[in-house]
Amino acid sequence: MNHEAEQAPQADWDQTTLSVLIQHILDTHHAYLREALPRLTQLAQASNSAEGGKDAAGVCGVLEGLRAEIESHMWKEEMVLFPLIRSLEEAEASGKPAPPSHCGSVRNPIRVMEQEHEAAKGALEELKKRTVNYTDPAAAGVSAAMVQELRRLDEDLRHHIHLEDDILFPRAIELEARLAV
Ligand SMILES: [Fe+2]
Ligand SMILES: [Fe+2]
Repeated sequence: MNHEAEQAPQADWDQTTLSVLIQHILDTHHAYLREALPRLTQLAQASNSAEGGKDAAGVCGVLEGLRAEIESHMWKEEMVLFPLIRSLEEAEASGKPAPPSHCGSVRNPIRVMEQEHEAAKGALEELKKRTVNYTDPAAAGVSAAMVQELRRLDEDLRHHIHLEDDILFPRAIELEARLAV
């Protein structure tokens, strides 16, 4: 086993099947968001009332908006886009043509997901600004532990979006194009 490859698993995502990459996204990033967003929203609501409001209301509002958008976004990926990509991969593996899809080309749901990623990155920028780049709990009216959690959320979500926008989606578009030949 190549030790370097173990330390840089990211490099391998160009080589694995798309189903393996999708499973990794689900197990790592979707699972994290489903656990973290309700918890962080509750924590922000608590500091909002405990610390007399200040800017915690702002952080709380951003988190509530992000949670609503991301939960619906993940649902669409899990129910529509990811099953479509898996079916394209199964078709190629079994030498069959692309299966019919009610959303037409894979590019259609991908375009929507990319737009929603931009909106999510906008929410992260807002959190970053309110916490002064995740360094100033007082400015945001939240605890130091909360700022660390928000920093982790930022890192995890940006990496998640990178795996989808820069690896999974381009590879799915190439796969669909190969099947159309
Ligand atoms: Fe996702
Ligand atoms: Fe996504």
